[in-house]
Amino acid sequence: MGIEKAYNSWADIYDSNENKTRDLDKKATVETLEKYSFESVLELGSGTGKNTAYLIQKAGKIICLDFSEKMLLKAKEKIADPKVQFIKSDLNKNWKLSDNFADLITCSLTLEHIKNLDKLFKQAFKKLKKDGKFFICELHPIKQYLGTKALYETDNGIQELEVYTHHLSDYLESALNTGFKLLEIKEWFDNGNDEKKQLLKIPRLISFVFEK
Ligand SMILES: C[S@@+](CC[C@H](N)C(=O)[O-])C[C@H]1O[C@@H](n2cnc3c(N)ncnc32)[C@H](O)[C@@H]1O
Repeated sequence: MGIEKAYNSWADIYDSNENKTRDLDKKATVETLEKYSFESVLELGSGTGKNTAYLIQKAGKIICLDFSEKMLLKAKEKIADPKVQFIKSDLNKNWKLSDNFADLITCSLTLEHIKNLDKLFKQAFKKLKKDGKFFICELHPIKQYLGTKALYETDNGIQELEVYTHHLSDYLESALNTGFKLLEIKEWFDNGNDEKKQLLKIPRLISFVFEK
């Protein structure tokens, strides 16, 4: 099943099924972005609007791009705010948006579905204002090496999604070659960052803040 179709069928239960990755991403997003101010935001792979609901408390305008009709529908049911614009759009194609408009671009749990990171980073760079920030939070590459991937349960068993493994160097090379500066990099553990001190504990997520 293609990625778009899989998210269409996951949408109904995406917010309610057990999902440690989703929950930890929410924490990572809030904890990281709390200290930044932003007015104009572009959210890539916004899904059911889990993070949009947080971003709208701080932003004046948000554009959300996602190619899953059903995920977008769920988000629209939850967030009826004129400050938010949901646009059905494939991130692999050209984003039909003005350049230099965003103070912040966010992308959570989406890049594992994007094969060509270079193209996405280049587009993100263009859409950001000077000094704008690009926040990314993804399944940690170590988790990917060990076989973890986006999946959900259906009546017919587990449905795994099509994913691409991105090494740490892939993110950094794409970003730095595009012209971004790295401001923050952080690993997120299931039981808080005290786990970092424990041998053999594997971080679930990795997050970055880049600056144009
Ligand atoms: C795991 S969900 C994450 C949703 C949200 N960011 C969150 O953290 O809850 C991944 C989202 O990326 C979207 N997505 C994946 N590949 C995409 C693409 N090529 N273009 C647009 N959206 C895409 C999916 O439709 C889905 O809504």
